[in-house]
Amino acid sequence: MSTSKPINHELEKNMEVISQLDDIVGEAVDNILVDPDDCWQPSDFLPDFQNPEVFEEVKLLQKRAEGIPDTVLTSLIGNMITEEALPSYQTYFNLLEGINDERSLLNPSGWVRWSKSWTAEENRHGDLLNKYLYLTGRVDMNAVERTIHRLITNGFDPKSESDPYQAMIYTSFQERATKISHVNTGKLADKAGDHVLSKICKTIAGDEARHEKAYKTFMSKIFEIDPSGAILAFEKMMRKQIVMPAVLMGQGGSNPSLFEQFSAITQKVGIYTGWDYARIIQHLVDHWKIEALTGLNDMAAKAQDYLSNLADRYMRLADRMKAPDEVQLAWLK
Ligand SMILES: [Fe+2]
Ligand SMILES: [Fe+2]
Repeated sequence: MSTSKPINHELEKNMEVISQLDDIVGEAVDNILVDPDDCWQPSDFLPDFQNPEVFEEVKLLQKRAEGIPDTVLTSLIGNMITEEALPSYQTYFNLLEGINDERSLLNPSGWVRWSKSWTAEENRHGDLLNKYLYLTGRVDMNAVERTIHRLITNGFDPKSESDPYQAMIYTSFQERATKISHVNTGKLADKAGDHVLSKICKTIAGDEARHEKAYKTFMSKIFEIDPSGAILAFEKMMRKQIVMPAVLMGQGGSNPSLFEQFSAITQKVGIYTGWDYARIIQHLVDHWKIEALTGLNDMAAKAQDYLSNLADRYMRLADRMKAPDEVQLAWLK
């Protein structure tokens, strides 16, 4: 009697296609991702403690940050916490089938290099926002640190199974969502008079835009090679819905509904809303020219119908959804 897992032909095909993309992904590491010596680093935006006048700089920073509304600040803290846990997603990436068959992080393949360079770039986002928020003097840092600790402890499940196709759908969606969220936070920071924070948010959003572009390109390639498989993965991910990476931030803690609180605030202040969710779906449907795909098998043709109308359905849902009247702040002094 065999104890091995039953063969999953769909997954095997997806693994095969993913390995065909390895060169393209390697090129993206070299051309789209950045070298540590050539890109911005968190300290570029922060007071320099080697400067004898640094406490004046800190005072100015605090003065500027004074005008940021508590709701916007809470939302920014939630985004920072999400970013702080991001390097741990390197694990998730390397557990996908077909990405790292040799189970070695020193494997020179494009995919393994991508998983490391991408998460290394993301690490700067958490670093910068964490230090900035600490310096504002408005944040209960111990509460924040406990949430980060708990989130990494809990891990996350993007519901993509270990299917690399679904994972590329998830990351394409998620990078765009993060970009939108940082762009909107930047606008609100500007409005509140903190142009440094605004610049920080826009800079981070620029990174997310590069990541989004890369993930969409990888997925476009999959659509070219295997349109039916690609569209089925898109449908599966959309039926399961995209969960935010920080969804487990409160689980097991003294406030298990912390994530729901945080997302109610982002919805209320317009940093990330139901309309954004619908617009991202529409963008991806257009980008991958879902409605124009031909030569699909029966199941894939059904997925095409489903996806073609999906953004409209979410748009109507968002129209009906009322922003919460009352929200509960978190992580503030
Ligand atoms: Fe990020
Ligand atoms: Fe990103």
